[in-house]
Amino acid sequence: MRGGAEKEAVKQYIADLRKKIHYHNYRYYVLNEPEISDAEYDGLFKELEELERRYPELVTRDSPTQRVGAKPLEEFGTYEHRIPLLSLNSVSDEREVRDFDERVRRFIGGIEEEIEYVVEPKIDGLAMELVYENGVLSVGSTRGDGKTGEEITQNLRTIKTIPLRIFSDVDAGAGAPLPLLEVRGEVFIPVSKFKELNAELGAKGEKMFANPRNAAAGSVRQLDPRVTASRPLDFFAYGVGRAEGKGFSTQWEALDYLRRIGFKVSPLIRRFGNIKDVIGYHEEVKKKRDELDYEIDGIVVKVNSIEQQDRLGAISRSPRWAIAYKFPAREAFTSVKNIVVQVGRTGALTPVAVLEPVQIGGVTVSRATLHNEDELRKKDVRIGDTVVVERAGDVIPEVVSVIKSKRTGAEKEFRMPDRCPVCGAEVLKEGPIVRCIGVSCIAQLKGRIKHFASLRAMNVEGLGEKVVEQLVDRKMVSDAADLFFLTKRELLKLERMGGKSAQNILNSLEKSRHTTFSRLIHALGIRHVGEHTASLLADNFRDVEALRNASYEDLVSIPEIGPEVAKSILLFFEQGSTKELLEKLERAEVWYERKEAGLVEEEKEKKVLEGKTFVFTGQISIPREEAKSMVERLGGKVASSVSEKTDYVVAGEEAGSKLEKADKLGVKIIDEGEFREMVTLPS
Ligand code: IVH
Repeated sequence: MRGGAEKEAVKQYIADLRKKIHYHNYRYYVLNEPEISDAEYDGLFKELEELERRYPELVTRDSPTQRVGAKPLEEFGTYEHRIPLLSLNSVSDEREVRDFDERVRRFIGGIEEEIEYVVEPKIDGLAMELVYENGVLSVGSTRGDGKTGEEITQNLRTIKTIPLRIFSDVDAGAGAPLPLLEVRGEVFIPVSKFKELNAELGAKGEKMFANPRNAAAGSVRQLDPRVTASRPLDFFAYGVGRAEGKGFSTQWEALDYLRRIGFKVSPLIRRFGNIKDVIGYHEEVKKKRDELDYEIDGIVVKVNSIEQQDRLGAISRSPRWAIAYKFPAREAFTSVKNIVVQVGRTGALTPVAVLEPVQIGGVTVSRATLHNEDELRKKDVRIGDTVVVERAGDVIPEVVSVIKSKRTGAEKEFRMPDRCPVCGAEVLKEGPIVRCIGVSCIAQLKGRIKHFASLRAMNVEGLGEKVVEQLVDRKMVSDAADLFFLTKRELLKLERMGGKSAQNILNSLEKSRHTTFSRLIHALGIRHVGEHTASLLADNFRDVEALRNASYEDLVSIPEIGPEVAKSILLFFEQGSTKELLEKLERAEVWYERKEAGLVEEEKEKKVLEGKTFVFTGQISIPREEAKSMVERLGGKVASSVSEKTDYVVAGEEAGSKLEKADKLGVKIIDEGEFREMVTLPS
């Protein structure tokens, strides 16, 4: 008897633990606002794993430990959608959107009836359907032809922003889980993660993806779910299929419900009462497009009322109640005038296509990367070729493919040089990458200094490419630390450098001397140590001295740091030039916040808004209370009215008189996107 009661208690304990992990998973992945440190999270997770090992009979499908684990498949099965997944008619100009609005109004009949539109970003990924039975994910499938898709449940389970179990807590206001709920949405790969993934694939000599969408498609349809699990896939929910026991009267309500039960729903979604505002919002989102960390190719305009949607119905496969209002294409045809070689900060030689300048999405593109020799061969790009060029987000433009039918025979093949085109040193081939091994290569030095000063490293504003090049060419700096010893007199010698710009550079150098340990490590430019690894190292070592003295064993004992990265760190600190650089940085009084190893990330974050006062006006998509607590968490304050003491006014929609006052007082006005950036929330 006692055994039974004990078992019940363990079962309850495990259930509570899972609930906790689900919740912290949601805070971390969906909201991007963890409440506990990674170490605490890992502790909970390990405890659950241990208990499940001891009581295998208590393992459930929706346990957070069960995201990956299924065996590779031979092929995918098919899945018939209960309600077909429709596609959208798309339009690309204002007149066509007005026509759509007129059609809707005509169909609904009567001018008296109000029509409200919900506008959502059109995520450039792949449509998926997730089926939840009694709150637990049971089937995940692709759209397929709309009626039948592929059953890829085990792959979709590996995506952290797809809940294995949806929240049903009464405090989440969502009520009990429905017997059946179908959630529709888009799987995608964030642009930043896409760049990392491609760099990784490129370094291994594997085929890279042309754009984030192809990367998502290639990742989600892997027969081995472990491969899918290693890819940075993400998911935005945007619709509901069947929902047994629940009626929604509007799309807005459905989206709100999805958000409350734990899905990631785009913060860019808005409601408008007329088509003019919809068109205005299209413009606004188009401008923000490059700042987002995911690709969007337009907006989707949906009639909000479900009852009106039902009346409008669909023609063939597209609903009459929705339309895709696209942005200009990101692809263009042009010709390759030449192929040149660029040398980066790690010495890697990158072939670059010099193009006949072409407009892509409002930007003139005249160069595009060909990544490395293997990629160039695979695509078979030749000088004189007509090519398709793509520019996705802030990704470097790249040559996607060659239009071989346009070849005349006059095209010239390109060969990689066998010496560094900048310093003449020998090159070494490491897999697909050709690297200059010159120790005093000017191109590498320029690259290192640019990286050191860049936004995500030391963030020295005003120190652009042109300035760095001149500083190196005129031998005014021989490493990054020399930047801190520059004088105004010296800076003024540079071309097109006025007193004001020079002073700005000095000021921002001064400001950047006070940084975080993790930024400093990132700025050093150690091979294989990007932003993420830098922050791991900062968490595990007290200071530069401790990091410099770390042994191979110390380094590889940190989860996520493998042999290659460890070796690269050791190699970096063995070099004489590193010693010199670190000594100079010390002399320059570059100062970073030291911290006890093991402290949580938040500790380090605390000060970034210290002493800053914010005022909010108008509507933003983050609840006020939440926005306030974010500012306070980072050391700032929120005031209710604008004064000389205000540092930032965050202006949302329909901002009122506070905005005018801020303008008058010269207070900096920022929008929601900029605010999110400051508090490092994703847009
Ligand atoms: S709604 C009837 N909403 O666009 C509604 N689709 O051609 C049909 N997409 O296959 C879809 N973002 O892959 C909808 N916010 C959004 C979307 C979206 C991206 C994609 C989806 C779909 C295609 C429609």
